[in-house]
Parts: sequence; C-alpha cells; structure tokens
Amino acid sequence: MTYILGIETSCDETAAAVVADGQRILSNVVASQVELHRPYGGVYPEVASRQHVITIIPVIRQALQKAEVGWDALDAVAVTCGPGLAGSLLVGVNAAKGLAWGRGLPLVGINHLEGHVYANWLEVEGKGVVSLPALDAAGQAFPLLVLIVSGGHTELLLMWGHGRYERLGATLDDAAGEAFDKVARLLGLPYPGGPAIQSAAIGGHPAAFDFPRGLMQQPEHVYDFSFSGLKTAVLRVVRELDEATLPVGDLAASFQEAVVDVLAEKTRRAAEAFAVTQVCVCGGVAANARLRQVMRERLPVPVQVPPLFLCTDNAVMIAAAGHYRFLTGERAGWDLDVAADLRLV
Ligand code: KG4
Ligand code: ZN
Repeated sequence: MTYILGIETSCDETAAAVVADGQRILSNVVASQVELHRPYGGVYPEVASRQHVITIIPVIRQALQKAEVGWDALDAVAVTCGPGLAGSLLVGVNAAKGLAWGRGLPLVGINHLEGHVYANWLEVEGKGVVSLPALDAAGQAFPLLVLIVSGGHTELLLMWGHGRYERLGATLDDAAGEAFDKVARLLGLPYPGGPAIQSAAIGGHPAAFDFPRGLMQQPEHVYDFSFSGLKTAVLRVVRELDEATLPVGDLAASFQEAVVDVLAEKTRRAAEAFAVTQVCVCGGVAANARLRQVMRERLPVPVQVPPLFLCTDNAVMIAAAGHYRFLTGERAGWDLDVAADLRLV
C-alpha cells in the first residue's frame, strides 16, 4: 500500500490530494482562482502565484485531514514541476520540498501532462467505478493512444507503458483549450471559455458556419493540429456581423464542431494506423460533452475519458502519476527546479 500526497500549482488552481495505491482517492482539495482572474479574461500570472502562496498550506492541511492520513503514513510527496507558469509552479515545488524535507519523505517531480494522463487511472469515489483502461488477456493495457487536450497543450501520444510515451503529433500553434478561451472572448463570453462555449453552443446550429479544419490534408502533419486559422476565421465573421445581433449560439456551436471534428478525426486515423485497442482522452477540454460524444461515436475502439471533476487541473492525478514513478524508484533531488516548458517526450 502506498500513500502519496500530490501537490499541483501549475496554473490557477491550488490543489492537494492523497491517493492510495495510485487509484483510490482519499482526498481531493482544489482551491480555484477562477473568480480572481475573470476580470482579466484569462490567468494573470502574478496574481496566480500570490494566491498560491496564500492558499497552499491550508489546501495541503485540508487534503491530509480529509484523507484522515497523518504525515507518518505517507510514502512520498509528488509535485508538478512543469509545464506551467514558472511563478505558480515555484510555490508548489517549494512547499513540497519543504514539507518532504521536514517530514523525511521522498520527493517525486511530475510532469503536469503526465498527471492529466493518469486522471484516466483512478477509482471514482462513491460510485465504485474504476476508471481505468481495460486490460487484455495478458493483463496489459498498452499500447494506449492518448489525446491530451488542455489549456496549454494538445498532443497525440502512444503510451507504451507507465511513464513511456511516444509523441505522434501536437499543435503547431494554439492549444485546443486556448482556442476555446480566445474564441469565447471574441464572442463576449466569460472566462474560462470552454464551459461558456459549450453552454452557448446548446442553442446553436453546428453547421451554421463552415469553419476551417486545420491540417486535415497535409501528409507531413497527419497527427498535428492547428487552431489559429480557425480562431481567425471566427474573428473575421464576428467583424463582419453586427455586434448587437451576433448569432453567438451558432458561432459557438460551429466553432466547437470544427475543433471536435479535427480532434476526433486525427485520433481516429492514429487509432487505425497504430491498431490500438483503446483511446484515452484527458485534459480540461476532455470535459467537453460534444467531444466526448463524437469521440465515442467515431472511434472504432473504446474511448476512455476521466470523470468531469478529474478533467480540469487537480492534484489527484499528480498523486496517481507519482505513485507509478515512486514505484520505479524515481526520486527528485532537493535541487528539483521548475520548468515552464517541460516536455513529456
Ligand atoms: O487542463 P486544464 O484544467 O488546465 C491546463 O492544464 O491548461 O485545462 C483548462 C482548459 C481551458 O482552456 C478551458 O477553457 C478548457 O480546458 N475547458 C473546456 C471545457 N472545460 C474546460 N473546453 C471545452 N469544453 C469544456 N467543457
Ligand atoms: Zn492541466
């Protein structure tokens, strides 16, 4: 039995969690800063790091209390060390170092994107649902095709084993979540844009506007993505139309459909080319209902998505990823540093 304390402060959520055996969620505390950043229409880095300083210790204390686990029972502290906002990451990493040092616990540094992947390997509290990739007759889940769609990243990966990734493609410009956030702003919708566009799209027609699907035909970019042309296309339409009668529902639905179509189509191509038996989708945009629906309809193999509360940033996924790295003997030194642009592969 391992008990891992996870700490996550890469962006605008201060989070701590305790996970047993990499799967059982004993606590999950997330202090969201969304209200603080809303007036700026996006995350204000300086405000984010200051708020992390204020909330980090109460959040960690609460995570331990809720888990009913004392410091003595913990096996390690796992902390996000990148990618993300440097000032925000520093707060989590320094807190983790101080606590691990003080309590004599090993420290494990986790890539935030790997955390998102492990949001797909957890028991879902109270429902008895184990949200894990299926295992084959030999007890293997690999290779898995993984689509990471967050506010800062869009990557298509093959996962060959715990912690072993091969990158098939990534976005060449904006991340999928970033596109949702930018287009929401163009449409006068609040931050964060993803949930706002999803709600606005409910009343709209997804074929009202024929928005471009980036990089669908270029053979050298089969598994890469591009969303900046789509964003510009929305901007052009918004400029041409009368602001007072802007068809926000139709624009939101058509934009969402374009993003979902590209994500699903490229994932389908990769699933077929590499003959995988299952696909995992993760990251904040994996919370999108239309994406979840289209992925399941279009992919020829089962599609696994985390429960909604584990799609966006949290520390449960960091603790879960930490469990597997801890088991392989991986330990971070006391010189563990943050890396704003840390890569998974
Ligand atoms: O993974 P995440 O919480 O943070 C990063 O690591 O970036 O992802 C945040 C992103 C934001 O861009 C947000 O707009 C998007 O996920 N998002 C959504 C939805 N919920 C969150 N995008 C589309 N539909 C949603 N329902
Ligand atoms: Zn994230």
